[in-house]
Amino acid sequence: MVPRVYVTSNEVPQSALGILKPVAQVRVNPRDKPPSRGELLREAARVEGLLCLLTDRIDARVMERAKGLRVIGNMAVGYDNVEIDEATNRGIMVTNTPGILTETVADLTVGLMIAIARRIVEADRYVRRGRWKVRWSPMMMVGSDITGKTLGIYGLGRIGLAVAKRVRGFGMKTVYYDNVRNQQAERDHNLVFVTLDNLLEMSDFVTIHVPLTPETRHSIGQKELGLMKRSSFLINTSRGAVVDEKALYSALADKRLAGAALDVFEKEPLARDNPLTRLENAILLPHIGSASAETRVAMAELAARNIVAALRGETPPNLVNKQVFRLKCVR
Ligand code: DGY
Repeated sequence: MVPRVYVTSNEVPQSALGILKPVAQVRVNPRDKPPSRGELLREAARVEGLLCLLTDRIDARVMERAKGLRVIGNMAVGYDNVEIDEATNRGIMVTNTPGILTETVADLTVGLMIAIARRIVEADRYVRRGRWKVRWSPMMMVGSDITGKTLGIYGLGRIGLAVAKRVRGFGMKTVYYDNVRNQQAERDHNLVFVTLDNLLEMSDFVTIHVPLTPETRHSIGQKELGLMKRSSFLINTSRGAVVDEKALYSALADKRLAGAALDVFEKEPLARDNPLTRLENAILLPHIGSASAETRVAMAELAARNIVAALRGETPPNLVNKQVFRLKCVR
């Protein structure tokens, strides 16, 4: 029987559907919004493959219904929207899209560092609101330099490392913390391994690149923010819930932190009346870290190739839960 695949978004590029169609019957969510919970439960129940987004919660309830499901192809590098242990126990492969979005997210991260330090977004608002009255004045919209400052990278995976490579051009001193030390990267890119507390204390910019796990959830909270210098900036392009947003708001509002540039939030989309929107010293983006046309096509195609491999009985190139095979053998 030809396997069936449900694609949860009609924005997934045609080229990815073209990869799926020779091997599967493909049904795409026809609506311009994510499937409702009911739709997701219904659709998952009739397919062998699922091409989903980080906005689709693929939990035990979905998997319980999806008796024939063999592979979940998440079109994202992060996969905190999928209950991995549940999938593994049920023999369902889970795949993600690492590697191809590294440079795009690193570019945005550096862009945010410059934008928050040099007040670029705030200055644009200043002009548009008609506040620019004096042609040039010495202290108008002054910000902070990046050159020569210390950058702290929390999480030295692919994206953290790509940021480290970029900032060498700014002559920054770069320290990092990760639960795995990477001495090769330290040698190659002049990085210094420190504890998380030390990183927070010494950095002028802290950029977050850890995945969201039970260990990293709220790992930047009131105490951690309290360790940062008043003149320092926080950048987050990973997952919002790594930071305790309420604590961050207080630190920014009380000027215990110079600024924050955030691409991700605890709850997305960010509510219009979220207190963060009232702060001039925060840049707020709608989760666009990997949003370049080239990268989004590459992510969709990789998600599709992972699904095709799984449906053909091969090991997908980006299998997250490798234990799925071990458990299958034991059964
Ligand atoms: C991911 O891939 O996890 C990103 O958050 C999407 O840009």
